[in-house]
Amino acid sequence: MKRWPIDGGAIWCGDAVELIRELKTDSVACTVMDPPDYQELLFDVLRVTDGPVIWLGRVGQSFADLRKFDRAPDRVLVWVPDEMPPPNGVTMVYRWHPIYVWQMPQVTSPKMPADVLRHPCATERFDHPGVKPVELFEDLLTLAPDGPVLDPFMGTGSSLVAARRLGRPVIGCDHEEHWCEVARGRLECHAATV
Ligand SMILES: C[S@@+](CC[C@H](N)C(=O)[O-])C[C@H]1O[C@@H](n2cnc3c(N)ncnc32)[C@H](O)[C@@H]1O
Repeated sequence: MKRWPIDGGAIWCGDAVELIRELKTDSVACTVMDPPDYQELLFDVLRVTDGPVIWLGRVGQSFADLRKFDRAPDRVLVWVPDEMPPPNGVTMVYRWHPIYVWQMPQVTSPKMPADVLRHPCATERFDHPGVKPVELFEDLLTLAPDGPVLDPFMGTGSSLVAARRLGRPVIGCDHEEHWCEVARGRLECHAATV
């Protein structure tokens, strides 16, 4: 795996499964998961994470996905994008997205007083099909104690930008070098503005 140091942490370019299995027990304060499947990694992710594990689900497959986890989530939160593209007449437009949480703290955060989070879809798309809004992650990460935030399937790195905005160290990973470069660029832009 290739390791790229960045301001406030590191980005790994390679297989997330390998990275997660190499990380020490309780070595990160929070893990954000936004993968295509990989539910079998849940116990490995719980092992490395001292605080919440926040897993972005797929609404169309949510019941099938839930069956694949070996432990049920402690909570299910919902992200509702404020603005959606109009129906295209071909595919279902989903207006909510499940977010599964394990090891969620009992305390609520002022940014997250309820289980439904409303944020517009990400405005910057980077030609990536799965970009989520940084502001959604900023709210979710207020649930996490101070300490490193891991996103092993980081894509364009939205969760890592949110973590850096909150002053948290970050560990990101993607197996596509292009997305590692995009994420690094976004984190460098953030570093230049603080
Ligand atoms: C849904 S996207 C994450 C999007 C991200 N939350 C964002 O806002 O940009 C999932 C990412 O996981 C990456 N990925 C899939 N399998 C992987 C693996 N085995 N190891 C590392 N990355 C992987 C894909 O390249 C993709 O960029």
